[in-house]
Amino acid sequence: MLKARIAVLVSGGGTNLQALIDAERSGIISSGKIELVISNKPGVYALERAERAGISTLVIEKKSLPSREAFEEELIAALDGAKIDFIVLAGFMCILSERFTSHYKDRIINVHPSLIPSFCGEGFYGLKVHEAALAYGVKVSGATVHFVNEIPDGGKIIMQRAVEVKEGDTPEILQRRIMEEAEWKILPESCELVCKRLVDERSK
Ligand code: GAR
Repeated sequence: MLKARIAVLVSGGGTNLQALIDAERSGIISSGKIELVISNKPGVYALERAERAGISTLVIEKKSLPSREAFEEELIAALDGAKIDFIVLAGFMCILSERFTSHYKDRIINVHPSLIPSFCGEGFYGLKVHEAALAYGVKVSGATVHFVNEIPDGGKIIMQRAVEVKEGDTPEILQRRIMEEAEWKILPESCELVCKRLVDERSK
């Protein structure tokens, strides 16, 4: 295997997806290629970013399917059908079951906008994470990239970066600073690290 075939799962604006696309273009990601972007929501801006970059897109809506099992079945069929080696959750707002995570053991990573184990787990996503961090009064927050297992935000940590919380921060301001200073850097770097490992392993 020369390059890992990457799928990025999204639910929203897709700034982390954009960071991955840019990193592939600039060569920061050289051991993998983004082949597919899947959204669980139609019409999100992340899909437009993917299309603009010439990447195949797919929408699989959880609510149009009878159960979580059926949703995950569809995801697996699409991912295996596209011969995906490696999955990046980039603002993907669905919790995945053990059935799904064990199918791609050590081949799924996620970016979370806090320093795990703070402000993570079920219910902590998007702006809620930053609201909780500000309400607690922490002076440092940041981002974490970790492997995905059946425990929400509970898999092994790959990279973390700390970001200063400043006087007068709103959740939106803090979110943006954490994205710029941490997420958009450590997500592509982690993606390359794990893809390279995968490629090296398979070429042994
Ligand atoms: C990012 O801040 C990401 O870390 C967070 O949602 C945002 C998505 O933004 N993810 C989570 O909270 C997952 N628990 P994006 O769509 O612009 O990449």
